[in-house]
Amino acid sequence: MRLGTPLSDSAVRVLLLGAGELGKEVAIELQRLGAEVIAVDRYPNAPAMQVAHRSHVIPMTDAHILNGVIMVEAPHIIVPEIEAIATDVLAQIEAAGLATVIPTARATQLTMNREGIRRLAAEELGLPTSPYAFATSAAELAEAAHRIGLPVFIKPVMSSSGKGQSMIDALEDAANAWAYAQSGGRVETATVIVEGRIDFDFEITLLTVRSLRDGAVRTDFCAPIGHRQVKGDYVESWQPQAMTPAALATAQDIARKVTDALGGLGVFGVELFVKGDEVWFSEVSPRPHDTGLVTLATQTMSEFALHARAILGLPVDVSQRDIGASAVIYGGVDAVGVAFEGVAEALSVPTADLRLFGKPESYVSRRMGVATARGETVEQARERAREAASRVRVVPG
Ligand SMILES: Nc1ncnc2c1ncn2[C@@H]1O[C@H](COP(=O)(O)OP(=O)(O)OP(=O)(O)O)[C@@H](O)[C@H]1O
Ligand SMILES: [Mg+2]
Repeated sequence: MRLGTPLSDSAVRVLLLGAGELGKEVAIELQRLGAEVIAVDRYPNAPAMQVAHRSHVIPMTDAHILNGVIMVEAPHIIVPEIEAIATDVLAQIEAAGLATVIPTARATQLTMNREGIRRLAAEELGLPTSPYAFATSAAELAEAAHRIGLPVFIKPVMSSSGKGQSMIDALEDAANAWAYAQSGGRVETATVIVEGRIDFDFEITLLTVRSLRDGAVRTDFCAPIGHRQVKGDYVESWQPQAMTPAALATAQDIARKVTDALGGLGVFGVELFVKGDEVWFSEVSPRPHDTGLVTLATQTMSEFALHARAILGLPVDVSQRDIGASAVIYGGVDAVGVAFEGVAEALSVPTADLRLFGKPESYVSRRMGVATARGETVEQARERAREAASRVRVVPG
């Protein structure tokens, strides 16, 4: 693809579907290469809209409206940032040869539904996963939990960021878990996945990049990212996560198989559970991963720069430069137009840096920013990132 001049006939137009904090960093990297960036989300002034050439506020699950925006903008590349998109529209656009969907329309369809990606990974590719079953009623859920063995995780197949997700230790809790899943899933389907718990030592995100070099697709792996999740949402991450050579080799093998099957170009966040030398596939994002925000501090090219380069057909460099960590800054308040106090204090922690996402509205558990830091060791980097994050206070404006 030949790069051009934004807002002219030679422009490479990139449409971002989802304009959150991850999309904002991708937009900045695309801007640096002179791409024309159009950001789309369902609310105005979303983070990536603030650094894009233009934006549209639409319900991206509405096929008719989404198709209309794509027709008006005629993008060369469509970059989904979230899962809740009318992906059948993307499939039609791709089939008609109107735009390149990142990584592929099929990948966005398979990964927006836990059933699609789980059956691909476990049943077609034969990768190790937690034991699982799908259920469409509270009774089926209880039966599956009994068969798999407690404790089990219950997740709506159409959900992300831990929404509607719970873990139960007793069959009596099956009805509650079913009801909770119904409240948290996207509306298209009431199906849940029931997963046996993997008793892992730690979990990682293996950022896997498919890019072009000398006309051929190649796969590169970033150093593994460790992370800690609370209620299905990441609170801190670090790079590298120490693991045995055998586990790393298995993790890369699993990531290569999954990303080969999904195809296309770009960054994938492959989520894996690790115990000793053993590795299980959990899920995959066909896009930069929230835990990968740490790469802003650690890598020669962040996961966002890698994504921008890869989707434009350009070569990438996945090398890690520093040991580092990230810690999430939550809103802590429900308020519009918040202010941030303690920023100078946060930035006086050695090596600390901040991203304040610019979200127009704060909720108690909404991610409003992130602190990163480097260190001689992962422990030191984590302490610094946590300390920096804790010094930032989100207050009503
Ligand atoms: N089968 C399992 N065994 C052990 N832990 C699990 C299992 N399933 C989920 N978890 C824990 O819950 C977290 C969230 O699960 P999962 O990634 O499937 O949900 P999610 O809603 O897609 O989250 P996100 O969108 O933040 O990635 C995992 O990172 C892990 O810590
Ligand atoms: Mg996950």
